[in-house]
Order: sequence, then structure tokens, then C-alpha cells
Amino acid sequence: MPPTSLTNSLATFSVAGAVRIGTAVQRGNGASVDLGPMSYPLTRMRRNRTDDAIRRLVRETTLTVDDLIYPMFVIEGPSLREPVESMPGIERLSVDQLVEDAKHCVDLGIPAVAVFPNVDDGLRTPAGEEAVNPAGLIPRAVTAVKNACPALVVITDAALDPYTSHGHDGILDERDYVVNDPTVETLVEQALVCTRAGADVIAPSDMMDGRVGAIRSALEDEGFVNTKIMAYSAKYASAFYGPFRDAVGSAATLGRGDKMTYQMDPANRAEALREIELDLEEGADMVMVKPGMPYLDIVALVKETFAAPTFVYQVSGEYAMLKAAVGNGWLDDRVVLEALVGMKRAGADGILTYFAREIAPALKR
Ligand code: PBG
Repeated sequence: MPPTSLTNSLATFSVAGAVRIGTAVQRGNGASVDLGPMSYPLTRMRRNRTDDAIRRLVRETTLTVDDLIYPMFVIEGPSLREPVESMPGIERLSVDQLVEDAKHCVDLGIPAVAVFPNVDDGLRTPAGEEAVNPAGLIPRAVTAVKNACPALVVITDAALDPYTSHGHDGILDERDYVVNDPTVETLVEQALVCTRAGADVIAPSDMMDGRVGAIRSALEDEGFVNTKIMAYSAKYASAFYGPFRDAVGSAATLGRGDKMTYQMDPANRAEALREIELDLEEGADMVMVKPGMPYLDIVALVKETFAAPTFVYQVSGEYAMLKAAVGNGWLDDRVVLEALVGMKRAGADGILTYFAREIAPALKR
């Protein structure tokens, strides 16, 4: 558009006394066509990108350490740090080492950790009874971390997969179908065991129906009125969980099996809203979408629909992909912050990420 017509249109506006920002073009018949506020060169989008200070002023999304939850893996034994091969930089830690790393998280300002077990193979059974052992690895780990770091939020899973001999999140019937209601009974007991050990947040990651309500009422009955439930509500049957299953040892037990009869079909979107709504109605304090990067449309939809505290899990496979590419020099390590900011921009209030400790020093406290 030539500058003269712009000048004319601005003059037209000021004569009319209208207070507005915008441009209009004069048609031959005298009619004015409003082009809205975006026309070049009155508007040059690049003006607000010229330097760091102005970019900071107009930035819409900020990632801080307050947004981070660090997932950790615990194993039996003293003084052990065992690398997880498919997750460079992540280790399985014995309880004493877990406490050291938890303290490091506190020093970095990370508000929360999620603790997952890799129990001895001998403890894995068809019904996963070890999940409800009050002297089990997770209850001991939780108590130790809470004693050392009382202000750190400790999250534990409600799910049976690290404890079953078949690697599924629940109990199987004679046709190898994961049965819902008997599984929920065990999950309730598992949640109580973890809460008694000191867990601040129970995170049902099993996708059984009705488990949030059952856990909530059991917590209320025992007087744990402030124990929070972070529900893995929209959890998809994803192949991006592979490295996690290596870490907890369920890759071997699950074999080539999948979790399609309880986790969500990756093709579904409306169903996620129903899952989230049910979990909120049943007493979830926070909801989660998982995995992260391939499911950010779901994160945005959930946040916009329910305005509830919404979390996203940047899962083990996403971590492995980025780590591998950066490690090989194929991608610059700036991809990590970009991926995480994208999750916040989509609407996540917080992110479970294996990058938490690595990136915390670069983020605002
Ligand atoms: C267990 C559980 C899984 C993850 C968190 N809790 C794996 C699964 O459902 O198979 C995945 C986390 C990750 O991949 O980082 N129910």
C-alpha cells in the first residue's frame, strides 16, 4: 500500500475523532475499507524483536524452575548409581544416593520430584503384591527423602507395572485382560502405603476406571485430607515410554505387549476431555497429559476447557530423542528449552522432565 493512502486514512480517522489504531483505504466511490490493525508499514512485527530487552518485555511465556518436576529412579542397595542406558545422564539410585540428588534438587529450587522403583526381579509377581509392602523400596525412599528435604514435594505413582511379573499396570484374568476393579483395590492400598510413608502427592498412572475416586475416599477416611492427587488422566498408549520401562525393569517383563486396553488410543482427542472431567469429578487436584510433545493439542484443549492445574509429562522417549541428537551433534542443545517452553505455551502449568536438574541453573528462581 502506498504511503499517501495511509496518510489519508489516518487523517480520516482523526477528523472523525475516533480513537483507534488501524489503517483504512479509500475506495474510488469514497467508501472506506478497514484493514484492521495489522497493516505494513504502520505495523512492523519485527520492531518488537530487535534486541533482548524488548523481546523480554513482550514475551508471553516464561519457563522457571517453579514449573519443573524431576522424575527419579530408585533401586535397592547402598551407594549405588546405575546408568540407564537409553537415558544418558539418568541413573537408578539407591536410597542414600537418591537423598543426595533430592537435596541437589532443593538447592536448584526444583519444587517437586516423582520417584519410581526398580525392584528386584524376585519381588515381581502376577498380582504385584510388593506394591503394597509398607517396608518396600518406595515407602523407604519417600520417608528418607522427606526426612532430608521436608519442603520438597514428593510424588509417587499408583500403578502396578514395576511390581508385576508381566509388566502390566494391573492384575490379569485368565485371558490376560487387565481387570479393573480388583486392580483399583490394590492401587488404593498402594496409595495409602505411600501416603503413610510421607508422599505429598499420589499420581495414579494406571488408567483404571474409578481409581481417582476410590483413592480420594480412602485418603479422606484415613484423615489425609491434604494429600494431593495428580491424575495421569489423558495418558496415551505410547511407544515413547520405552526408556522408562528399561529404567524400572518392566521392558523385559512386558516384552512386546502393549497397554492399549487401558491407556488411550493416540488417535483420540474428545476422549481426553471425558477422562479429565471424570478425574476432576472424582477428586483429582491436578491433571496430566502424557506424553508431551506429540500431544500439545491435548494440553491446550484441556487447559482451555477446565482451567484446572494441568501438567504434562515430557516422557523418557522424548528425553532419549533429544539427548541422542544433541549428544551426536545433530541438534543444538537449545532444543531442550524450546521443547519445554512449547509445553508451557500450550497451557501446561508444570512439566515432568528428566532435564529438570540439567536446565534448572539456566532458569530463573
Ligand atoms: C507406569 C508409568 C509409565 C510412565 C510413568 N508411569 C510407563 C507406562 O505406562 O508404561 C512413563 C514415563 C516415561 O516414559 O518417562 N504406569
